[in-house]
Amino acid sequence: MKKWVTPSTIGCFFGLFLLLGAAYAYHWHGYQKTQVQPIAFNHTLHSNKLNLHCTYCHIYTEKENQAGIPQSQMCMECHKDIKLESLEIQRLHQYWKQSQPIPWMRIYRLPDFVSFSHKRHGEKGVECIECHGNVSWMHEMRQIASLQEDWCIACHTSRGTPQDCSTCHKLP
Ligand code: HEC
Ligand code: HEC
Ligand code: HEC
Ligand code: HEC
Ligand code: HEC
Repeated sequence: MKKWVTPSTIGCFFGLFLLLGAAYAYHWHGYQKTQVQPIAFNHTLHSNKLNLHCTYCHIYTEKENQAGIPQSQMCMECHKDIKLESLEIQRLHQYWKQSQPIPWMRIYRLPDFVSFSHKRHGEKGVECIECHGNVSWMHEMRQIASLQEDWCIACHTSRGTPQDCSTCHKLP
């Protein structure tokens, strides 16, 4: 009888596992994007340690479709005289002095053909954490959900929200 359990079959077996593992890891982390930001902003410092509410900075979430990312004017309420020795804060002062917008890199982004509203979800009691994860513990912002159609629909189904295409897609 032929021997099946040879070192090379064992090698193949583990090789296959490694490949599957790598494919799985890629799939899982495929959307876990981070970005190098113009200023190394840290949510843990501000949301957890200083206990600032999300809407203190993301001021449009309750009023509009967008959440809004704050500009230097808002940061200067504190950083006019906090942490001036920090290089990051010096960079913030530069943007402020030159009245230049801080070119924050976007992380969560839907294609233009999808309608989405922060106001609408907030009104219905959907919390930031359900879609953006535990931001208060993120030193670096990352995307924790795929933002694919099936992700939206899974939650809508569980909450009995309308499923017709025009809910999320503007019809021409
Ligand atoms: C309510 C006050 C407040 C606001 C508003 C605020 N910060 Fe801060 N920030 C602080 C404090 C206090 C610290 C120091 C925290 C510590 O080290 O414990 C800090 C720390 C930082 C640091 C780390 C500095 C270093 O090198 O250690 C950066 C970068 C920073 N803030 C950027 C920003 C930006 C950008 C904004 C606007 C989007 C902003 N902050 C808004 C109070 C504030
Ligand atoms: C002191 C101001 C401040 C507070 C408080 C704050 N944020 Fe932010 N947030 C920022 C800044 C500045 C950025 C852009 C830089 C970055 O991505 O880290 C940002 C980025 C984000 C992004 C990514 C936006 C994108 O698509 O690029 C999300 C999501 C977010 N914040 C959610 C939250 C949530 C949830 C809370 C409350 C737990 C919160 N933030 C509290 C200032 C703040
Ligand atoms: C139902 C899911 C959901 C909830 C709840 C939610 N977001 Fe978002 N958020 C998104 C999606 C999806 C995007 C991308 C939107 C786009 O590209 O049009 C986004 C984008 C953002 C951005 C990027 C900038 C912008 O203006 O859109 C910030 C900042 C943000 N969210 C913060 C928050 C905060 C703070 C809360 C809670 C008050 C919150 N979000 C609640 C899904 C959600
Ligand atoms: C964590 C749960 C959750 C996720 C994830 C979620 N939604 Fe929602 N969505 C809701 C709830 C709850 C409502 C409110 C339904 C109602 O009005 O009764 C809603 C309402 C909406 C509405 C308004 C519907 C109307 O009739 O006015 C739109 C548009 C929408 N969602 C789009 C999206 C899109 C696009 C995504 C994915 C990018 C998404 N949602 C992800 C929970 C969610
Ligand atoms: C709850 C919100 C929601 C509903 C309901 C919904 N979609 Fe979508 N749809 C999305 C989102 C989010 C995307 C973007 C996914 C991505 O980035 O590729 C999308 C993408 C698409 C695309 C582009 C696919 C691609 O691969 O580029 C088509 C076509 C589409 N939807 C058709 C429909 C049709 C037809 C219906 C009704 C049967 C429907 N959608 C219902 C949220 C929704």
